[in-house]
Amino acid sequence: MQLEVSGIGLSYGDTPVLRDVSLVLDSGEQALLLGASGSGKSSLLNVICGLQTPDSGTVTLGDQPVHDGVRKAHIGIIFQTLRLVSALNVHANLLLAQRLANGVQNAAKVDETLEQLGINHRAKARPFELSQGEAQRAAIARALVVSPKLLIADEPTSALDKGNTKVVAEMLIEAARSAGASLLIATHDDRLTSQFGRTLMLENGKVTG
Ligand SMILES: Nc1ncnc2c1ncn2[C@@H]1O[C@H](COP(=O)(O)OP(=O)(O)OP(=O)(O)O)[C@@H](O)[C@H]1O
Ligand SMILES: [Mg+2]
Repeated sequence: MQLEVSGIGLSYGDTPVLRDVSLVLDSGEQALLLGASGSGKSSLLNVICGLQTPDSGTVTLGDQPVHDGVRKAHIGIIFQTLRLVSALNVHANLLLAQRLANGVQNAAKVDETLEQLGINHRAKARPFELSQGEAQRAAIARALVVSPKLLIADEPTSALDKGNTKVVAEMLIEAARSAGASLLIATHDDRLTSQFGRTLMLENGKVTG
């Protein structure tokens, strides 16, 4: 599904953060959103996902305005912090994520995703028992089990060392490709640019690239 962001403006009080931001991400396209800390990357991702209402502009996914229903049905979000329920093991958390997204649990899809990310042996582990790398994969799995058409990640590698940063970026690239999803990753880490064909720059409230 094509993502089209058009003329987004957003201010916090008197401070403008996004000024007339427009971008198009084609179906299946992968891009990096690069910008300094505080440049507005998370704000823009929140607007794209329909989690934050902009002052002006529109966001459409596959020609539909993005609202709660569209987000749940089509967008997989990888937040910077692990959003799993600590009382449930990894497998149960992923089933819950599916149920919250579209009301349907698909255990086979959960198994397949854990296998793909190489953490199926941790399916019965509780979130706090995971290593940092395993937790990162669990966060990716949570976004993938709903079979998204758009995969969005906010600083997915900020807590990782150089080696793991490359591995996790590769994992996201491959996961999006095999799911047929578009991929948009926000980061201030310009070491990731070599792995992406397209880099969007967020600077002074504008996106270029
Ligand atoms: N709810 C809010 N109220 C007021 N100001 C905010 C709010 N959220 C963010 N800001 C400010 O807006 C600017 C952009 O914030 P945002 O979180 O989008 O940046 P970012 O590019 O994601 O930064 P980082 O790389 O540090 O995560 C920052 O100056 C921030 O302090
Ligand atoms: Mg941020």
